[in-house]
Amino acid sequence: MSASRHADPGPRGRRAIARPGGRELKIASDTTYPPFEFVDPKTNEIVGFDVDLVNEICKLLNCKPKIISTAWEGIFAGLEQKQFDLAASGITITEERKQKFDFSDSYLRYGQVVLVRADEERIKSKDDLKDKIVGVQIGTTNEETAKTLVADEAKQLKRYDTFDLAVRALLAKDVDAVVIDSPAADGFMAQNPGKLKIAGEPFTSEDLGLCFPKGSDLVAPFNAALKVLKENGTLDRLYQKWFKEYKPGQ
Ligand code: ARG
Repeated sequence: MSASRHADPGPRGRRAIARPGGRELKIASDTTYPPFEFVDPKTNEIVGFDVDLVNEICKLLNCKPKIISTAWEGIFAGLEQKQFDLAASGITITEERKQKFDFSDSYLRYGQVVLVRADEERIKSKDDLKDKIVGVQIGTTNEETAKTLVADEAKQLKRYDTFDLAVRALLAKDVDAVVIDSPAADGFMAQNPGKLKIAGEPFTSEDLGLCFPKGSDLVAPFNAALKVLKENGTLDRLYQKWFKEYKPGQ
């Protein structure tokens, strides 16, 4: 990648984008989801791919991003009540959510995977979960998927408020597997070196978007900015930083 691909689009590029005019944007995020958004234990700051992404967008649009740490389900309730301007939280664009919210264009496509302990031998793919105990974060697309993989949802599906807790339950052997987005599986593996692995291949395809209250005037400028960041290589640089190079403690 050449340096020029990362450069600012210049006055012409910037002028092409309608601006939110310096306003502060309240951005809801469940900051327990590495490498998308999490609290850096060293600095206590909220960092991650989504954080960098909204920072880059706001540089182009002249807005001030203010990340507000919010429980997952509270994100959607808050958006409905227009308490937040948007949410950046590794949110999958789904038909159901589109009924209630507006989404930006996709900024990442990935699949879900099965995360297990490093010494797990019984589980080789999603097809081995029929009789296992599976952990997920409640209210996610991963919960929807996991429901279809176990024989008896009531007995086998454990729903946690955060993925962080689901992964802790996995390490503590309270659950046998966690169904999770593949970049987040990598994030938790990076945070727990040698303790976890992925069983099998990604088995869904979904797109992540920034999520706005219905009718928000920010969707069009955000999409224009995303397009600039895709074209000038910034998005690639952020993928590289958070999905390839990120190792906690560095
Ligand atoms: N992509 C999944 C969904 O939209 C999970 C996202 C979880 N994000 C988080 N910050 N905990 O349902």
